[in-house]
Amino acid sequence: MKKSKFLSLAAVISLILLTFSLSFAFDKIKFVAISDPHISIPQQKGVTDGYKLGLKTQMLTENTVVEINKIPDLKFVLVAGDLTQDAEPWNIDELRKILDGLKVPYFVTLGNHDLSRVPHEKKDQPITLSKYTVAGAFIGRSGGMVPGMTYYSHEVAKDLVLITLDTSRAQIFVPEAGLNDFGARIDPGQMRWLENTLKANQKKTIIILTHHSAVPWCEGDKSNHNAWRWFWMDNAEEVRALLKKYGVKLVFSGHRHISTRYQQVDDIYHFVHPALSTYPMRYTVYEMTPKDLSWQVKDVPASPEVWELAKKNFLADKWWRGPDHPETPEGNQKYLEFYESPATLKGKVTYK
Ligand SMILES: [Fe+2]
Ligand SMILES: [Fe+2]
Repeated sequence: MKKSKFLSLAAVISLILLTFSLSFAFDKIKFVAISDPHISIPQQKGVTDGYKLGLKTQMLTENTVVEINKIPDLKFVLVAGDLTQDAEPWNIDELRKILDGLKVPYFVTLGNHDLSRVPHEKKDQPITLSKYTVAGAFIGRSGGMVPGMTYYSHEVAKDLVLITLDTSRAQIFVPEAGLNDFGARIDPGQMRWLENTLKANQKKTIIILTHHSAVPWCEGDKSNHNAWRWFWMDNAEEVRALLKKYGVKLVFSGHRHISTRYQQVDDIYHFVHPALSTYPMRYTVYEMTPKDLSWQVKDVPASPEVWELAKKNFLADKWWRGPDHPETPEGNQKYLEFYESPATLKGKVTYK
């Protein structure tokens, strides 16, 4: 072959390859977000149906997986933490088994219930695992988790990068609060990793997946009532400033157990997601382009009896009501509205 012919052939091949790679660039992508499955197998001692439907968690997550598998053109599923009741090995095995039933890759982040707790005399302490062991259970299936780490980044589609964060402070008993510490902070080491990862992916679209939010969702979340300040990150301002510096547009979280809603702070949309295990049990289907994001919130399939029980236990719960929702008809109405978030069952946002 003559040299000139060879060169023109090479140019044509390069052009084809370039077109091929461009045509595969992230354009429109469909994914699902689920949160707080809190898996607790019923064979474990002490599992009950309270505010969390402990005895039903397996069934609710399994039913959700069946529904998700029916969604056409789905690319992946995000799981926003509180995977287990309290990091018990049998519950991790069970969740892994259920999520492995998904037809598409899934990406998990850890919640405050997915790490070992310091035992205290008030509680019958089950066997719980280190967060590194819990994270290790998810290496391989999704390609996200990395050995020895509890957070990671992963290019889930061409030019679309998922960054997950490990937001939990610790699960130690705090006597003053009478509670296990369910609060959040991104420690300095993870902040440095986050900045390096954001810098390396600056030209791509970035989705952040966390358990705790980087914003409060109601006035009560800013107060110390029931330690509700622990619902969102201690250093939220610092984290938001870093995300803003690198042009992040979307942050997805769970933990708050309210239905899907969002708020925009500094051009970043923060989305929070409902639990699979507590009323109103739901999951969210997203469609994303480099310019906008639209979504639809769906109920977890369950029998009318299960829904009735979930709502009854929700209304009977005092801790999650907070100061703004007294046990009066008006208080119940406001309480339901806050957790059901009826105005954001579907929607669309456009990024700047
Ligand atoms: Fe939770
Ligand atoms: Fe949580």
